[in-house]
Amino acid sequence: MPQYAALGKKDNVMRLWELYKERMLCVYNRGYKITITSLLKIGDIEGAEKIFEEWESEHSSYGIRIPNHLIAAYARNGLLDKAVAIIDRVILKGVKPDESHGVVWQECILLMIKLRRQLSFQETHFWPRDLGGGRTRIAKPELNDTAAESHGTETAPASTPALISEDWRMSQFWYDHHTAQTLAQEVLTLCKSDSQSLSTRVACVACPSLYAYLKNMDSDVSVQLLEYDKRFEQYGSDFTFYDYNQPEDLPLELKRGFDIVVADPPYLSKECLEKVAQTVSFLARSEKPFLLLLTGEVQKERAAELMGLLPCGFRPRHSSKLGNEFRLFTNYDPETRLGGWELDN
Ligand SMILES: C[S@@+](CC[C@H](N)C(=O)[O-])C[C@H]1O[C@@H](n2cnc3c(N)ncnc32)[C@H](O)[C@@H]1O
Repeated sequence: MPQYAALGKKDNVMRLWELYKERMLCVYNRGYKITITSLLKIGDIEGAEKIFEEWESEHSSYGIRIPNHLIAAYARNGLLDKAVAIIDRVILKGVKPDESHGVVWQECILLMIKLRRQLSFQETHFWPRDLGGGRTRIAKPELNDTAAESHGTETAPASTPALISEDWRMSQFWYDHHTAQTLAQEVLTLCKSDSQSLSTRVACVACPSLYAYLKNMDSDVSVQLLEYDKRFEQYGSDFTFYDYNQPEDLPLELKRGFDIVVADPPYLSKECLEKVAQTVSFLARSEKPFLLLLTGEVQKERAAELMGLLPCGFRPRHSSKLGNEFRLFTNYDPETRLGGWELDN
């Protein structure tokens, strides 16, 4: 394969890969590695991503070597969002960084510095004092075509709207059924209790499964989904394209138009939370809006500083089991719901 790659013969690389899979009882990491690096050598990043996806779906334990090849290629090609997305994914899977991939990730960091991208996310994530701190190795989750994953004894109703499968390149982790249903129920309770508005409007910022559950539980509820993934254009005028890098690049009619704003930022960085907070304040009505934020426990202090949010007892979970602890933060005390505010003594 490497020889064919050196000659730029992608068809031959792929032919050998198919032959290898056909003949081998078990496809080893080495096979994936050689194929991915061969395709990257030819410059076929999309082809390498496909093999990576195959590797991910076949492997229950999440090693770092295979993702590292893609991370390095993204960095070299200036595909920084993709590099950050895969690094985030690796971290969220609970993989403990070590020296060897620290070097690869450093490549990305240096590039980002060059491009004057803000790097504060490294404090929270991986560089260097935080290496692996407190994170546990976890099993590779199944990818689901719906967010309606069973949780405990509860199972999703047959009519739950089908969600698109997660795309790791966009840091997508769908809630499990119990979480999505609990959140939707909370939002509907807020809608009913909201005395300040005649027809309460809800904004779901980067949480498409909440949008789907809300619509499923009450089709009359007015919800706008702000999302980066254009596959959700299927929701018609309820969909607004949103990139957190342009926090206020949104239609003016959305400004201050929402009584309830729920946000689930794609990344655990300071920069990302600051920008999402800017969007939340753009969207929220000026008088006592209800704000809900779902993100990692690591963002607790920033959530309080930026938006005055405090953590609730309720623990959000995802259909892919993540290594990081997730929390729900609110700007109101839900009291008997969601385990109330969990205040430090
Ligand atoms: C951690 S997931 C939250 C999804 C939520 N748990 C759910 O089940 O609906 C982050 C979301 O951010 C979106 N996203 C990815 N890149 C983004 C960007 N540049 N700007 C805004 N949102 C983005 C993803 O498509 C994804 O829906």
